[in-house]
Amino acid sequence: MAPTQPLARRKAGTRSALRTTIAAAAATLVVGTALVVPAQAASTLKDYGTAAGKDIGFALDPNRLSESAYKSIADSEFSLVVPENAMKWDSTEPSQNSFNYSSGDQVAQYAAQSGKKLYGHTFVWHQQLPGWVSNLSGSALESAMKNHITNVATHFQGKVFSWDVVNEAFEDNGSRRQSVFQQRLGDGYIETAFKTARAADPTAKLCINDYSIENINSKSTAIYNLVKDFKSRGVPIDCVGFQSHLIVGQVPGDFQQNLQRFADLGVDVRITELDIRMNTPSDSSKLAQQAADYKKVFQACLGVTRCQGVTIWGITDKYSWVPGTFSGQGAALVWDDNYAKKPAYDGIVSAFSGVTPTPTPTTPTPTPTTPTPTPTTPTPTPTQTQGPAGCQVTYSVNQWNTGFTANVTIKNTSSAAINGWTLKFSFPSGQAITQAWSSKASQSGSAVTLTNESWNGSLPPGGSTQIGFNGSHTGTNTAPSSFTLNGTTCS
Ligand code: XIL
Repeated sequence: MAPTQPLARRKAGTRSALRTTIAAAAATLVVGTALVVPAQAASTLKDYGTAAGKDIGFALDPNRLSESAYKSIADSEFSLVVPENAMKWDSTEPSQNSFNYSSGDQVAQYAAQSGKKLYGHTFVWHQQLPGWVSNLSGSALESAMKNHITNVATHFQGKVFSWDVVNEAFEDNGSRRQSVFQQRLGDGYIETAFKTARAADPTAKLCINDYSIENINSKSTAIYNLVKDFKSRGVPIDCVGFQSHLIVGQVPGDFQQNLQRFADLGVDVRITELDIRMNTPSDSSKLAQQAADYKKVFQACLGVTRCQGVTIWGITDKYSWVPGTFSGQGAALVWDDNYAKKPAYDGIVSAFSGVTPTPTPTTPTPTPTTPTPTPTTPTPTPTQTQGPAGCQVTYSVNQWNTGFTANVTIKNTSSAAINGWTLKFSFPSGQAITQAWSSKASQSGSAVTLTNESWNGSLPPGGSTQIGFNGSHTGTNTAPSSFTLNGTTCS
């Protein structure tokens, strides 16, 4: 297939080079003999996605964030993050009922600090499954699966907005994969997993995720039938993830049509693990084909209203899972081994033709060395609240014996922007906050004060932010009866 629109692509390439140069340099720079004064920040994939209402995600390995090129692309180009490995069963519950969230929490913390949505991957999968699970049988396995889902979902409640509940449950011919779950629990295990996830975190979207389902085929039709069945019986399911580990030149022509048929069942769809591999080494014609292929995938999502976005399975070819899994293949991502943008980048941008990118407001990433200025006087400064009062607080909890997770949504219902907020309330029955996220928490007796982080202090009129905390209770966990935001009582 010929590369699409060679002229447009050449122009896009020039723009890309300029963007790269500008981003790397100070305010004013000289290119050849021409003086270039950048008027505004270059548009990123995230900006195009935001303008089109789509999430632009990437799979994160938190250990790579110490590499500055990795982090700067992660920070600037994406609006969503999914842990590449950190929330899988072998990471989160390596031995039975002993949970380890260190890696997953790093991802959650990065998402919160960088203002990105956090997508959870994955509860039930036959791979990266610790050996102890496969040694269980019958009801012990079902209890372990429920316990795993409940614990992980509860831990990340309020942080993860959507979960891959079950991953890769089908074979290419549309039959069930004979995983340990399938063999010992039977067909009903998928339903059990979704119901357990819903009970544990009623706020999260729940997805089924798989590969080789991008086109209309036996496997995608099996999942289509499962979704249809769940919908008809009221079993919770909100979304389908299309992994999309694709091969250059082989993006299916009916991808958009396939996404649409799922959307028409009343679920969201999302491209969850995109990479497009080639036989290595790469060359300019393979890279041009790859650019056209990336464009085609993004166009498929842009063509479906219920397609929530596209997540790319990594940033740089250097760390892609592809060469380790598909021998002789690689170069599947959008940035090369040296973090240079590949033609695929402009291929993606060209998919957004007609979309005017929304420039990203410069929200500095908070670092421990840059403390958020706090007012030194107890009186709120004039910049804390602007305009007429008006706020709404939604408080929901998920609780167990003596613990709970609270999910709090703060909405600015006034007609003026809020720049910096303090939420106050009182616990009626002796509860105590043990850990908070997306706000700074302090408690004195029953009185709780939560203040914004630097990245979520601005609430435009109608805007909202979601924060959360874990707490302890003594058996009674009555919700606070009223909340104030910057001194104003909220509804
Ligand atoms: C891969 C990771 O990228 C690798 O680092 C890991 O060693 C194996 O798993 N489908 C999925 C992903 O759902 O979780 C897989 O991720 C790639 C295939």
